[in-house]
Amino acid sequence: MPMNQNTSIKKIAISTGGGDAPGLNAVIRATALSAMKRGWEVYGVRDGFHGILSPEEYPEGGFIPLTRDRVSGITHLGGTILGTSNRNNPLKYPIVRPDGTVEEVDRSGEIVRGFDLHHIDALVTVGGDGSLAIASVLAKKGLRLISVPKTIDNDLDKTDVTFGFDTAVGFATEALDRLHSTAASHGRVMVVEMMGRYAGWIALHAGVAGSADVILIPEHPYDIHKVIEKIKERDANGSHFTIVVVAEGASSVGGEISVIEHKAGRAERLGGVGEKVAAEIREISGKETRLVVLGHLLRGGSPTSFDRLTALRFGAAAVRGLEAGQSGVMVALDPPHVKYVPIDEAMGKMKMVPLDSDIVITAQDLGISFG
Ligand code: F6P
Repeated sequence: MPMNQNTSIKKIAISTGGGDAPGLNAVIRATALSAMKRGWEVYGVRDGFHGILSPEEYPEGGFIPLTRDRVSGITHLGGTILGTSNRNNPLKYPIVRPDGTVEEVDRSGEIVRGFDLHHIDALVTVGGDGSLAIASVLAKKGLRLISVPKTIDNDLDKTDVTFGFDTAVGFATEALDRLHSTAASHGRVMVVEMMGRYAGWIALHAGVAGSADVILIPEHPYDIHKVIEKIKERDANGSHFTIVVVAEGASSVGGEISVIEHKAGRAERLGGVGEKVAAEIREISGKETRLVVLGHLLRGGSPTSFDRLTALRFGAAAVRGLEAGQSGVMVALDPPHVKYVPIDEAMGKMKMVPLDSDIVITAQDLGISFG
């Protein structure tokens, strides 16, 4: 039985899904404290929606009561105390048939029933595009919910920025700072691959802030010969090292995105373009070239104060929205405000780097090559 959207709230749940991002614990804390302030009980769902779909896997149960003690001292911690998962999408849940083939089934109805069974009146669901798609289906099935957008990639539409992005950019920038001295000392080319999936936000922001010489992003297919030209131009000007930032989703003109793995029930895993670019530079320019893949380092660590504040604001706004009767919406940053946008308007549209944006133009003015 779908819950009644008009009943007053007594008990809510929060779930964190998809890849983790610094700031998730801050959302959990803000949601829990804001809910407690209203006299509501708060529960956390383990590992995305896995705690509801497979509670038998958790000795303590698939729901954790979020007490004041449990959410104390967590704002500055990376990761999520609830656990998360970017496997086993409940809308395309992979079931292995006896013959070894995989069938994808929709288990969203079980999630709605699970919340009903636990007398949960509303849900705050924190996640990226995949989680928004799940939330949209759950909301249409009658679950009262508000989504909180999250991704280090910053590729979600309808919000100015997502928490986790600033932390990732800060770490990547520091990595570039550190790589400069060793690159310069050896006169090497240093290729630095960064996460970001199909959008180049992390590579662009960190590349500009960290004084990269070349930035390759998915929005602008690169020509390796232009990268070599930049390396030669720098050599001719007496700078015998070059820092090349490569977004994991970048591809060459007419080439394809490098995919490592694609399994049922989960998004494809990208990677390998850094190795490809480094090998081509080595071969064509003859310069000593090293590759650094920042990978999951970008997802860890303590959130910056900007990410903490955004996450705390999102969590508190989600609770205020539920109290005001909102459902099927996502909280979004629209500086200086936090607003609510329909989930269906926000999902499915990836926010890419506009090539005419101020940061791209600034990079070009600084002499940075996009290949
Ligand atoms: O979406 C966040 C992200 O970190 C991407 O930048 C990256 O491509 C992906 O998740 C990695 O996923 P996984 O943790 O499954 O390797």
